[in-house]
Amino acid sequence: MLYSILKGAGKYLPQRIVTNAEISRTLDTSDEWIQRRTGIKQRHIAAQDEYTSDLAVRAAQQALQSAGISSDAIDLVLVATVSPDRTFPSTAALVQGKLSISRGMAFDINAVCSGFLYAVTIADALLKQRQATCALVIGAETFSRLLNWSDRTTAPLFGDGAGAIVLKAEDHETPTGVLSSLLCADGRQWELLYTDGGPSLNQKAGVTRMQGREIFRQAVEKMSVSIQDLVAQTKISLKDIAWLIPHQANARIIEAVAERLSFPIERVLITVDRHANTSAASIPLAVVDSLASGRLVPGQYVLYTAIGAGLTWGAVLMRL
Ligand code: UT7
Repeated sequence: MLYSILKGAGKYLPQRIVTNAEISRTLDTSDEWIQRRTGIKQRHIAAQDEYTSDLAVRAAQQALQSAGISSDAIDLVLVATVSPDRTFPSTAALVQGKLSISRGMAFDINAVCSGFLYAVTIADALLKQRQATCALVIGAETFSRLLNWSDRTTAPLFGDGAGAIVLKAEDHETPTGVLSSLLCADGRQWELLYTDGGPSLNQKAGVTRMQGREIFRQAVEKMSVSIQDLVAQTKISLKDIAWLIPHQANARIIEAVAERLSFPIERVLITVDRHANTSAASIPLAVVDSLASGRLVPGQYVLYTAIGAGLTWGAVLMRL
């Protein structure tokens, strides 16, 4: 059987680290409040001349290197982002060009914080349909550009970064790689989290507006239910899952999901303290960190889950 196998992963975080203390100098907030309510200690912020495609390319190069695969082998580039360099062409096309790839497909996916799950699922489908053979799946954001830095209810929560994985179509006897996914959306709820701008609306990117408390409630509910529904579709039980890798928005949301599922918190990857919410980049960034630290090893079952604006949400099961 043909499977989409994880061959390598890479990340890039902008050099500049902004601590809660630094944010508290210009906003009516405190390190104590931010840490207690979100678990966030710091975030990386891109330099003025650093764009989402730059972050994505650095992550992609590291992913290709770790996979031992040359960019010539890539025939699908997917970038999950809501902070594209330009309205068009897609950031994926810019990344493809910067990597000197001139064949196959390249396009962006906008499912906000669920973008990486959507991208992995689409890449998996294209690989299994033999429309592509080797994919770069990237989550990349300069989310700091979509924030009102005078708004304490959103500005401290987000950060910039990029994570990338290489998925290759390979024949295997035992099910490996991307095993199952469940993607959902409910566009009726878009007003819970949105930017107040857009090319068609007002020719501006806009800034993020969020009903935090309701998003929090929905995040716990929808991520827990999508995990339960996905696991119910497979022969795998939650006990078999080595690591739960949730979208990193708020440590309290992650802890509540683990508690609701009676999933041991020791087997949940948490990076929100260092990265804050990097939207579509948060899951691949966590994957790269955990591969590097040796926590993720071949053969393990890992479960990703996310929720984002749209609303969009879902879960993906992978065997490394
Ligand atoms: O990626 C997916 C999208 N995002 C999320 O998943 C985020 C989901 N939501 C959250 O993480 C939390 O709801 C927040 C971190 C946004 C807010 O935490 P909360 O515990 O739900 O606080 P709250 O919104 O209920 O606000 C409590 C109080 C309010 O003051 P009053 O009205 O009680 O006087 C806020 O004005 O905290 C105040 N507050 C702050 N205080 C200091 C809100 N933000 C801040 C702040 N510093 N940064």
